[in-house]
Amino acid sequence: MAKIAVLGFGTVGSGVVEVIETNKTSINKRAGDEIEIKYVLDLREFPGNPIQDVLTHDFNDILNDPEVSVVVETMGGLNPAYDFTKRCLLAGKSVCTSNKELVAEHGLELMQIAQDNGVNYLFEASCGGGIPIIRALNSSLTADEIDEITGILNGTTNYILTKMARDGAEFDEALKEAQNNGFAERNPEADIEGLDACRKIAILSSLAYGRDVRWQDIHTEGITKITATDIKYAQSIGCSVKLLATSRKVNNRFYAMVSPALINADNPLYSVQGVFNAVFVHGNVLGDAMFYGSGAGKLPTASAVVADVVDCAKHPHENVMNRWSSKKLDLIDIDDVRSRFFVRVSGSLAGDISNVQEVFGKIEPISIPGVGNEFGFVTEEMSEHEYKEKASKIDNIISMIRARI
Ligand code: HSE
Repeated sequence: MAKIAVLGFGTVGSGVVEVIETNKTSINKRAGDEIEIKYVLDLREFPGNPIQDVLTHDFNDILNDPEVSVVVETMGGLNPAYDFTKRCLLAGKSVCTSNKELVAEHGLELMQIAQDNGVNYLFEASCGGGIPIIRALNSSLTADEIDEITGILNGTTNYILTKMARDGAEFDEALKEAQNNGFAERNPEADIEGLDACRKIAILSSLAYGRDVRWQDIHTEGITKITATDIKYAQSIGCSVKLLATSRKVNNRFYAMVSPALINADNPLYSVQGVFNAVFVHGNVLGDAMFYGSGAGKLPTASAVVADVVDCAKHPHENVMNRWSSKKLDLIDIDDVRSRFFVRVSGSLAGDISNVQEVFGKIEPISIPGVGNEFGFVTEEMSEHEYKEKASKIDNIISMIRARI
C-alpha cells in the first residue's frame, strides 16, 4: 500500500482526491500498488465532505508518519510550500507538485535534495496543466539536442485573447468574462503580466537545455496593452495574436522571452484557442513536435499530479528525474534578438508614410475599415536594438507587437 498525503485542499488538491477516487482501479493497477490517501492538510474544515475523516491541520502529523511515502503539494505559492517540501524530501518522502512558482524558484535545490535522499521531486503539472511535457522532455526527447521551445503556456491569457479576437472585445471586458467564468484568478496579475508563462518557460528550458534558466532573467511582457484594434489589424493580414513563451538557440547561444506576438496560419500555435495550451518543441534530430491539451483547470492539472504519484509508487527508491546543472544558461541580451515588428502609427497615409519609409525603408501599409487617422505596417527582420533606434525617430507610434511571420 502506498500511503499519500495531500497538502492543500483547494482546486488542484481536491482534484487530486477526485481523480484518485474516480480512477482507483486503473491507477492502482498502473502503480502496481494500492494508493491510499492517509491525510489531507488544510487549515479549513469541510463538514459533510468524506475528506473530513483524513483531514489534519498539523503538518507534523504527515512529516512524522513513516507510512506516508508520497506527499502531494498543491498549496501554491512559496511559503510554506518550500519549507514543507524540503522537510518531506529530507524525511525520505517523494513530493509531487503543481506549484510552478516553487519549481521555478527552488526546483533545482529540491531536485538535488530528492536525489540525495533516494526519492523524487516531480512537477509534471507545473507546466501546461494536463499536457505531459515534463515527462516528454525528461524521458522521451533524450536523443535530441533541443534548440527551441515555444509555448502558449497560460490558459487565462489565451482565453482573453481568443475572446478579444472572436467578439472584438477590449481587454478589460474579456478579463472580466474570464473571471466570471472562473478561468482567471481574482488577482490575475501573474497571468496577464506574463509572469506565469515566464516561470513555465524557465522550467521547460532548464530541463530541455540542462542548465539553470532563472525566470528573473527572461524578458517578459504581458497582454494588458493589447487592444481590440491591434487584433483587427492582425486578422486583416491572416494573423492571430498569442502570448508566446519562447526559448531558442541562435548561433550557439540562447534567448528567452515572453511577449505577445502575431503569428500566421503556418504556425502550429495559430489555432490554439481558449484555455488550451500547446508547446512546440524543435530538436536537431526529431525536427518539430507539438504537445497540445488542457493547460489549466482542476481535473487536467490533477491528472498530471496523480500521474506523478503513480511514478513515485512505481519507483519508491529510484530517482527518475534528470536534474539540470546549477550552471546558469547564458542568455543573450534581448537587444540582440531579431524579429519582425508590427507597428501602428497615427496620421494619414498620404501625410505620414514618407517619414515612416525614410526610417524603416519600403513598407506595405495596412488600413482597417472603420479605423481612421492611422495605419499599420510590418517591418523587415531586425534586432530589438535596431527597432528601438528606428522607432525613436518616429513620434507618432501607437503600438508595437512582435511579428513571428
Ligand atoms: N493561471 C494558470 C493559467 C493556471 O491560466 O494557465 C495553470 O497554471
